[in-house]
Amino acid sequence: MRKLIVAGNWKMNMTLQDGIKLAAEVNEFFKKNPTEVEVIIAPSYIHLPDVGRSLSSISLSAQNSASESAGAFTGEVSAEMIKSTGAQYVILGHSERRTYYGEDDNLLRRKIILVLEQGLKPIFCCGEILAEREAGNHFNVVKNQVETSLFDLSADELDNVVIAYEPVWAIGTGVTASPDQAQEMHAYIREIIRAKFEETAAENMTILYGGSCKPSNARELFKNPDVDGGLIGGAALKADDFIAIIQSF
Ligand code: PGA
Repeated sequence: MRKLIVAGNWKMNMTLQDGIKLAAEVNEFFKKNPTEVEVIIAPSYIHLPDVGRSLSSISLSAQNSASESAGAFTGEVSAEMIKSTGAQYVILGHSERRTYYGEDDNLLRRKIILVLEQGLKPIFCCGEILAEREAGNHFNVVKNQVETSLFDLSADELDNVVIAYEPVWAIGTGVTASPDQAQEMHAYIREIIRAKFEETAAENMTILYGGSCKPSNARELFKNPDVDGGLIGGAALKADDFIAIIQSF
């Protein structure tokens, strides 16, 4: 069965106190109003343990993890450290990591393996920039990202991976991919998975949409057969908006 997921990526926002408050609000809501959707929040590394402590009905994710397992890598945070906070997921390959910190698909392949080794689930982000879409290259770009980072995995390993399609031109811009554009790319990604792995792997793969998803457009996006939820940035910073997006299912 394919899991439906809505994940809130808080990025570099929220003090510890504000984060605990927001997490508690969302957690409380879903404790009282259980949902079939898996709800995930991704605060900053340093807030993971404290925010995690207040959660009982929703899951916890990191926004990144190191490309090495341990040792002399000043300032880095390993998958094992993330695991020890109680988190279950790790967002990897977000376009902001790719653009500002030079992360490429080979590096991401290493990170994915380290995360899986710890029993954590990677949320692997892929997506094209505007120039690539305008040049009609978006399918190739996404195919390359998925192939390079995920095709060395076994079907069992892939079973623990979530894919997030995030067209870079839609992230934080207020411009959302149309429901048709999202469905088209999601179906294409599922097809790539189907061609390499078994039918079950493709059918079970949760593929999230990300990029200016908000309460007013979530329903139309989530209605598509290949859109299994969302990765939410800005709208995840307000409990009401985030909850409304999840309730759009
Ligand atoms: P946004 O960000 O919802 O603010 O566009 C999405 C993301 O970066 O994951």
